[in-house]
Amino acid sequence: QIRYSVPEETDKGTVVGNISKDLGLEPRELAERGVRIVSRGRSQLFSLNPRGGSLVTAGRIDREELCAQSTPCLVNINILVEEKGKLFGVEIEITDINDNNPKFHVGDLEVKINEIAAPGARYPLPEAVDPDVGINSLQSYQLSPNRHFSLHLQTGDDGTINPELVLERTLDREEEPTHHLVLTASDGGEPRRSSTALIQITVLDTNDNAPVFDQPVYRVKVLENVAPGTLLLTVRASDPDEGVNGKVTYKFRKINEKQSLLFHLHENTGEMTVAKNLDYEECSLYEMEIQAEDVGALLGRSKVIIMVEDVNDNRPEVTITSLFNPVLENSLPGTVIAFLNVHDQDSGKNGQVVCYTHDNLPFKLEKSIDNYYRLVTWKYLDREKVSTYNITVIASDLGAPPLSTETYIALTVADTNDHHHHHHHH
Ligand SMILES: *[C@@H]1O[C@H](CO)[C@@H](O)[C@H](O)[C@H]1NC(C)=O
Repeated sequence: QIRYSVPEETDKGTVVGNISKDLGLEPRELAERGVRIVSRGRSQLFSLNPRGGSLVTAGRIDREELCAQSTPCLVNINILVEEKGKLFGVEIEITDINDNNPKFHVGDLEVKINEIAAPGARYPLPEAVDPDVGINSLQSYQLSPNRHFSLHLQTGDDGTINPELVLERTLDREEEPTHHLVLTASDGGEPRRSSTALIQITVLDTNDNAPVFDQPVYRVKVLENVAPGTLLLTVRASDPDEGVNGKVTYKFRKINEKQSLLFHLHENTGEMTVAKNLDYEECSLYEMEIQAEDVGALLGRSKVIIMVEDVNDNRPEVTITSLFNPVLENSLPGTVIAFLNVHDQDSGKNGQVVCYTHDNLPFKLEKSIDNYYRLVTWKYLDREKVSTYNITVIASDLGAPPLSTETYIALTVADTNDHHHHHHHH
């Protein structure tokens, strides 16, 4: 038995072995003695080179086609030396060269992982196949560097390597919704051959974020006379979760019964409107807590402060607290006729009141303490000329435009015992 070996994929005519020497012949004798290859089928892989006396390849030989994964890859041929009537067996080993890349069956892969997946979870990755044998076949896998994932290789009983993706750190869809990894499969040949598969990780959403209001406190000013239905403000809470997990509804969290009738908060739009007439004089500041809730009952909170601004909508009120009627006609100038109290429910300028009378009458108003006024005479009254007065007191606030009230005081000048005394003077 003659044994040779030749690497696969060599050029046609590559010398496999010195057949003439191994048969004990001179090269020229190969032709003379009618030496030829007689094997069936595989004989076309090799031929004899009569001039050099050697067995040579008849073409390129692909080991993988010939023997697939079996090793060693052996081809047996017989050589007949016709003249001697002798048959020689020749066994040729086709040795492997690293002529194949490892190949992935599937191209790119998408792996879907929920963001609540716990570290340690494993996900199968595509496998590669390399038709070469031994060290020239698939030896290892590498994963591109990544914060969240590592690679685990599981070797089966038959020696196949199953790559698995291992979650090392929890994912956050809101921070990074996709991750791109590259899986490389390499053989151990010289030079090393490899190929890659792209792996896209799609992070699936979990409702793990609570809604957050744009502002911790919303402040709004509103005139007390706005019509019911007037929009006060629109509150907004954002929830970074996806789709339905990010949808929020709004409602009051802490509000007293009275306030809940005055204001309306739209569940979906966050629009807050005035539901009824406001009254600055009744309440000028409302404070309430609102909340935004998502489908998972995760809550966000905020506050709304509504400052009601006064509108000059109240007339001054004048009360006659004392009236000294009738007045004696000989009363000294400065005699008090009446005490008046003025009051305006509005605030600021809208509530500041000035009081006066028409100055063609012998009366004037003097300011007393607080909101009191004295109506006094400023000269002697003459009953013969005027015996009754209809005194108009005008109270006006300082609003723009001002509101005023008129109060009428009917006064009688009394005839005193002293008619003569009066005459004396004239
Ligand atoms: C006083 O004058 C006002 C306005 O002119 C009038 O409405 C009112 O009736 C008068 N009062 C009396 C008692 O005459």
